[in-house]
Amino acid sequence: MIKLKSPEDIEKISASGKILSEVLGKLSEKAKIGVSLKSLNDMAYSLAKEFGAQPAFLGYRPEGASRPYLASICASVNNVIVHGFPTDYKLKEGDILKIDFGVKYKNFYSDAAITIGIGEISEISKNLIKAAKEALDQAIKISVSGNTLGDIGYIISKTAKKYGVRAVKGLTGHGIGYTLHEEPIIHNFGEKGKGIKLKPGMVLAIEPMFAVSTDKVVQKTDESWATSDNSLSAHFEHTVAITEDGCRILTN
Ligand code: MF3
Ligand code: CO
Repeated sequence: MIKLKSPEDIEKISASGKILSEVLGKLSEKAKIGVSLKSLNDMAYSLAKEFGAQPAFLGYRPEGASRPYLASICASVNNVIVHGFPTDYKLKEGDILKIDFGVKYKNFYSDAAITIGIGEISEISKNLIKAAKEALDQAIKISVSGNTLGDIGYIISKTAKKYGVRAVKGLTGHGIGYTLHEEPIIHNFGEKGKGIKLKPGMVLAIEPMFAVSTDKVVQKTDESWATSDNSLSAHFEHTVAITEDGCRILTN
């Protein structure tokens, strides 16, 4: 069942999302050559605490995982798409880093992700990142009452095609707010006009995940998800609310 949120609850999710975007902004400034994933994680933890918030992923067990996740951020490098663990790995020139972060604030959840190039990155990486970013922007633009989840999936995969990259299958966006993952599931492919109709009060985490040359994912032993052919991947995510006056981004 999709739990619709009242305007008051959307304000509370927005308060959570504000903290999230502040922290994510600081992390993206810090993500430079030589910086370890773990230090980004530690920074996210302390900043969240300073805001009186909880890192939402810490101790959370995602679907398909055998154990709870014991870090505050997901830090996924290059071929790793999501759920990369923030190890001692130090960022290198040319890496593409995905930082995914979730915040629980006064019991309301928000979730967002960005992809950052480290130092000078390849044209292939730039194209991939641009594609994923544009897909999220386009998806948000059409996330209005009366459109459908199929429309969101359609525009995301259409944007991937436009850039000659692939939207990966098997990883999805989701409803959010009272918990980290709620109904509905949001696929990154779909047919125009198909699927559940968007309605005011829906709060969604929309998250295009693109790869250079495959739409298949594999789960690694650390339970992160990577591209099946080890090609590079990019991921952007925002938590948004469908309102009477259009789509409102809650994580910016
Ligand atoms: N943003 C991620 C998602 O929507 C959440 C990661 S859950 C974790 O799937 F616990 F594994 F970090
Ligand atoms: Co998410």
